[in-house]
Amino acid sequence: MSNAGAYLLDLQEKLGGTVPAERFMQEALYNPAFGYYSSRIRTVGRRGDFSTWATLDSSLSLGIATWIKKETPRHVIEIGAGNGELAKDVLRRLGWWTRLRTTYHIVEISAPLRAKQMERLRGFRVVWHDSVEDALQSTNGHAHIFSNELPDAFPCRIFQKTEGGWMELHLHIVDGKISEQLVSATLPESSIFDHPHPIGQRVEIHESYRRWQEAWAPHWMSGAILTIDYGELSKKLYHRRPAGSLRGYAVQQRLSGNDVFKNPGFCDITADVNFTDLEKWGTNLGWSVETSSTLLAFLKEQGATASLPMPFLEAGEAFRVLIQRRSN
Ligand SMILES: C[S@@+](CC[C@H](N)C(=O)[O-])C[C@H]1O[C@@H](n2cnc3c(N)ncnc32)[C@H](O)[C@@H]1O
Repeated sequence: MSNAGAYLLDLQEKLGGTVPAERFMQEALYNPAFGYYSSRIRTVGRRGDFSTWATLDSSLSLGIATWIKKETPRHVIEIGAGNGELAKDVLRRLGWWTRLRTTYHIVEISAPLRAKQMERLRGFRVVWHDSVEDALQSTNGHAHIFSNELPDAFPCRIFQKTEGGWMELHLHIVDGKISEQLVSATLPESSIFDHPHPIGQRVEIHESYRRWQEAWAPHWMSGAILTIDYGELSKKLYHRRPAGSLRGYAVQQRLSGNDVFKNPGFCDITADVNFTDLEKWGTNLGWSVETSSTLLAFLKEQGATASLPMPFLEAGEAFRVLIQRRSN
């Protein structure tokens, strides 16, 4: 039996017979010994298991750099920098004068990716941190923060609507085979429950992202946070998607259904982000919403669409941008 298999069986016993899908994802992605981001991932992009907008097209770095130049912050913190390509492009586009005046910080949880970033960003003035708390401490709490495709990399809770109400997805492991079980649970705070859904509908909620933001929010005194990811506002998120949006990626192949949970640690697992939840959770922390739009609208606003290839013009509608501000 693999390390992951033995660990998860033991965990299942400790948790009373099943493992909530969110906890399974936490281990499959971030367990220090076998988690995908902790040990398996080598890079992000065409040579990796999945590509991101940042590794396919440079419009994003132009849009982000233009936004930073308008804002003129003293500190910029990028969270989850992948292979470092976006950071490098943003730094280049800032130009020497802004680079001189701005300290660029990266918060990265994955050791293999941090090594990749250090290699790629050699020669640039970048400070790495293990957590957003550490990064904010070094900026006295004043910083502009941004991320691309970060919330979707957080474990999510999965719920299914049944005749008896919403139930949470747990996994049950027997002889290395994983089956699904629906278990009654207290519902987390999410706008997704405000809408009518058919029986059988599955939804994902990135509650772990909310808890993570709540932990570092008290250390953030002023600045803006720019969040870019694939997803939608709550009302449209599951339109014609009764099975939800959970999926996996390995060697650029998309996995769906139960395949996502096979071979934990060997694939990325992700789900679309509910941007209405991100807005609401930030509002609860005292952050105001400044921009909530599609990525395409944001890139247009920043004058970054001139050389955007056709497929990206369409994909730009599937990605969203949220800018929230913390004022002291
Ligand atoms: C899907 S990748 C996106 C990478 C990059 N931003 C891009 O667009 O190519 C998610 C990134 O977030 C990082 N990450 C995930 N959870 C994190 C956390 N809690 N703190 C910092 N980085 C995290 C991962 O290691 C990875 O670098």
